[in-house]
Amino acid sequence: WANHGGRPWWTPSASASYLEFGKRFPGADSNAPTCDLSQAVMPAAPTPLPAPASGLTLSHVAIGRGTQNYTCDLTNATAVPTATGAKATLFNVSCIAADTPDLLAKLPSIALDLPIPSSDDETSPAYQDMSGHHYFLDATTPFFNMDTTLHQYGTGQFKKSNGSNAPSDALLGTNNQGFGSVQWLKLDAKDSAGQVLQEVYRLNTAGGQPPKTCQGMPAAFEVQYSSEYWIWAQ
Ligand SMILES: *[C@@H]1O[C@H](CO)[C@@H](O)[C@H](O)[C@H]1NC(C)=O
Ligand SMILES: *[C@@H]1O[C@H](CO)[C@@H](O)[C@H](O)[C@H]1NC(C)=O
Ligand SMILES: *[C@@H]1O[C@H](CO)[C@@H](O)[C@H](O)[C@H]1NC(C)=O
Ligand SMILES: *[C@@H]1O[C@H](CO)[C@@H](O)[C@H](O)[C@H]1NC(C)=O
Repeated sequence: WANHGGRPWWTPSASASYLEFGKRFPGADSNAPTCDLSQAVMPAAPTPLPAPASGLTLSHVAIGRGTQNYTCDLTNATAVPTATGAKATLFNVSCIAADTPDLLAKLPSIALDLPIPSSDDETSPAYQDMSGHHYFLDATTPFFNMDTTLHQYGTGQFKKSNGSNAPSDALLGTNNQGFGSVQWLKLDAKDSAGQVLQEVYRLNTAGGQPPKTCQGMPAAFEVQYSSEYWIWAQ
């Protein structure tokens, strides 16, 4: 993804630079960010995912950075890795989604090659931009906890509703080495009456796929990944 006609990634066209985006924050001018999520458009999956249910509004766009977890049955010579869940820290990129979608599309690939920013210190920029955490309650129940000590955006239990393979040119993994990028997904609330967060799309995934077989793998292992998460609420 590094070059567009010989230009580096931060100059997507001859007249534009993503670095300008960094200058667009308060105090500024007519280029101030709008952060108008009603203008944000989700990227289309290779096999189209169903649209959000009518009546929902896009409440948040986050970059998730973490690991997909797998186990291997070491007693079975032909076993394949079993997905057991994921664990990721979510960072607020709502304004980027609204204002510079082509930059957003590159962030999972960029984030995958960077360490997960430390977010323990409440005063750190990483903590201030942290939307929350994503993990699994059991193998089939992804959970989003969007509450931190700085804000309460809610929590939600989900279930997989639909999936699409990632595009064929998606990254293989960290440093573009590995076994591919996990599926793009649509998740629906497990109990839609009981939570504000209703639907979550995992899009523009980078990395996360396990090897095809368990040969040479340990009983449990993690694969680094990053992704966009588009979170829709009532
Ligand atoms: C996934 O969504 C597509 C498009 O809406 C639909 O045609 C397909 O049947 C869905 N698949 C599943 C497993 O629900
Ligand atoms: C070994 O793994 C293969 C591939 O997942 C599976 O089809 C088979 O049932 C497994 N055998 C046992 C004994 O679990
Ligand atoms: C995300 O960040 C933008 C810009 O800082 C802010 O306006 C918005 O409230 C944040 N939203 C959430 C849900 O964190
Ligand atoms: C898998 O994910 C959990 C969090 O859900 C984490 O604590 C654990 O260390 C991960 N890795 C392995 C190899 O189980």
